[in-house]
Amino acid sequence: MFFRQIQQHSDNFSYIVADDITRDTAVIDSSYNAGEITRILKAENLNLKYIINTHGHSDHTAGNEELRSMFNAKIVAHKLSRINADIKVDDGDFIRTGNISLKVFHTPGHTPDSICLLVDNQKLLTGDTLFIGECGRTDLPGGNSKNMYESLFHKILKLPDDVEVYPGHDYGSKPFSTIGEERRSNYTLEPRSLAEFIQFLSEP
Ligand SMILES: [Fe+2]
Repeated sequence: MFFRQIQQHSDNFSYIVADDITRDTAVIDSSYNAGEITRILKAENLNLKYIINTHGHSDHTAGNEELRSMFNAKIVAHKLSRINADIKVDDGDFIRTGNISLKVFHTPGHTPDSICLLVDNQKLLTGDTLFIGECGRTDLPGGNSKNMYESLFHKILKLPDDVEVYPGHDYGSKPFSTIGEERRSNYTLEPRSLAEFIQFLSEP
């Protein structure tokens, strides 16, 4: 698998996932990195098929139109998303690029349309749902702490410890981690009841 984490003009991460053989490629969260993404796609002779957004916030979608027009790729987002997507997905769907599978987990909480993507059962791209050492904020429009609890504790933490975690922003002490490391060290993932979690998130 060709896999690249890109960070150029902000703390937003973009990701390139490609099949080594077919060169079929997905970009996750174009953000402000369309120029660097384009450079890599051309240098590596990659064939961009999908531009997938973990949610509709503009800092994640900023490069969509530039990449779509340049590579004639399809924009993919959750079915609740308000962005101009060509393909709408929901929990449990698979997006395939060459022989690589990206499984969609609907993880609302930061926004109603938030998704995480599990790449070949190895790498979880978590958008603004889970950061290294932190979770996404729920106090923006569409945010919901109860949904965040269910997304974190009933979906993400159900994954095996060796799954790697790749977040949507560089907010942590390092750019990526694993489910096991986050389970052990991320203070937002400490065992809490739903009521305790909602209280915890509401504290300043
Ligand atoms: Fe966001």
